[in-house]
Amino acid sequence: MNGKQLAAEKAVEWIEDGMVVGLGTGSTAYWAIQAIGRKVAEGLSIRAVATSIPSEELARELNIPLIPWSEITSIDVTIDGADEVDGDYHLVKGGGGALLREKITAYASKCMIVIVDENKLVKQLGAFGLPVEVVPFAWEMTAKHLEKLGCKAIRRSHSDGGVFITDNGNYIMDCHFGSIQDAPELEQKLQHIPGIVEHGLFIGLADRVIIGYEHGTVKVRE
Ligand code: 5RP
Repeated sequence: MNGKQLAAEKAVEWIEDGMVVGLGTGSTAYWAIQAIGRKVAEGLSIRAVATSIPSEELARELNIPLIPWSEITSIDVTIDGADEVDGDYHLVKGGGGALLREKITAYASKCMIVIVDENKLVKQLGAFGLPVEVVPFAWEMTAKHLEKLGCKAIRRSHSDGGVFITDNGNYIMDCHFGSIQDAPELEQKLQHIPGIVEHGLFIGLADRVIIGYEHGTVKVRE
């Protein structure tokens, strides 16, 4: 097992019968969804919501029962990956472009478990370009406002040059800060820019971080 899979396998230990579970997005969350699917096949009874269309499709393939958001008041546990995790459990997320649904899900969760391999641990956030979801209307103006915060903002595209469109019909601006000195302060500044739907800074949302190491061990940080 690689580090991602190890962290994912450990995280599903927190899932119990009767829970509402949030399914993350990305290559690490993929392993968690696989493990949840296996447990469901063995008799675990849960209901789930997914943070992206690909995760929803995977859940359906694995017969994980999905429920509409209108039927829940909160989520018991969400298991999701991250692009960067610092010592305060501040996260950068959105490498897969699912940050809006991921943040809605994390905010609605009693417990958010972040699963990463050791490569995601950083002293300071920002080496990974911060994904920011923006509405297409006047996106060039929104990009200018973002750049006033000290980054280079690049609209995300696919390898064939086509514009990346999120599950919600928006664009992603990857904002290259190099390093983010004060993540909570940047979060406040981002809230004020019109045109931004949501950003990939997750401050105070992670309750537990599980790190899988290539040499086969797993660490749980509460
Ligand atoms: C998707 C995300 C992912 O959790 C993040 O990009 C990590 O992905 P991976 O597990 O593939 O490294 O935020 O929007």
